[in-house]
Amino acid sequence: SWTMVNIVEESIEAVRAQVGDKRAICGLSGGVDSAVAAALVQRAIGSRLTCVFVDHGLLRKGEAEQVEKDFVAATGVDLKVVDAADRFLGALEGVTDPETKRKIIGREFIRVFEAAAREIVEEHGEAVEFLVQGTLYPDVVESGGGTGAANIKSHHNVGGLPEDLRFSLVEPLRTLFKDEVRRLGEELGLPSEIVWRQPFPGPGLGIRIIGAVTRDRLELLREADAIAREELTRAGLDRDIWQFPVVLLADVRSVGVQGDGRTYGHPIVLRPVTSEDAMTADWARLPYDLLQRISTRITNEVAEVNRVVVDITSKPPGTIEWE
Ligand code: XMP
Repeated sequence: SWTMVNIVEESIEAVRAQVGDKRAICGLSGGVDSAVAAALVQRAIGSRLTCVFVDHGLLRKGEAEQVEKDFVAATGVDLKVVDAADRFLGALEGVTDPETKRKIIGREFIRVFEAAAREIVEEHGEAVEFLVQGTLYPDVVESGGGTGAANIKSHHNVGGLPEDLRFSLVEPLRTLFKDEVRRLGEELGLPSEIVWRQPFPGPGLGIRIIGAVTRDRLELLREADAIAREELTRAGLDRDIWQFPVVLLADVRSVGVQGDGRTYGHPIVLRPVTSEDAMTADWARLPYDLLQRISTRITNEVAEVNRVVVDITSKPPGTIEWE
């Protein structure tokens, strides 16, 4: 639309004025905010922007490829991918406490991002003065709050970098709301899987495995989650649902029966919620036939899962995530 074209043009001019002929980096998370911010800055300064994508091995099925292939194809952005799954999984080994998981993931993220930033400086023989962030208007208004939104931002927005890696911030989405960012993303030609992605926590599937995080468990949860998302999309409901966490109760087993024999497998929890801002939420009344399809497919297609349950708790008292 005309106004979106205007916003694009004005934002590009503003970024050019701020960055001048200096270099910038941007951390991509797979989410819409960082993707749109990066795409805008790329339009403004081209290859003087380098994006960094830290693959922590905790993303959902297909999400790393969306960033590495589809996003790059759509924008032509210069991308540095760091495959850090081994490192994150090593650091998480045996850890079950939710806040400890978050701390470890946040800490490793900063370290890996920092190392990537140093490499970029060396490769170009030139300092990087700017860090691009996908901060939105509600983040600006809420910053300083102790829970939820403020925490959310703590890892992907890369706070707490050491002194020699202090950047000036470029925040081209600071005046925008989420729906405007999505329209902007469409205007910029980004893949719709990225533009319409539901909110997803920085620690990813690491906080959707109740119990210790292992490769096998991640693989299992990734399959179950992909089925749930696919069926939600097929039912045309993905834009009506705020978030749809799929949780693996890795330390719980229950008895079931399949084919000729008894099974002793893990439960999967479906946690579809509606919400305006994640501060409060209600459990989503998904159609029974949709729940039926998801349940049948998960128990048929995901070995080791013999039971699917639905979380019908509002927030409060339940949080959206299980950890
Ligand atoms: P809860 O579970 O507290 O979540 O109802 C509220 C919103 O925040 C997201 N969330 C996180 N996002 N890092 C993030 O980036 C985190 O550690 C984190 N924990 C929760 C959650 O997905 C929901 O959108």
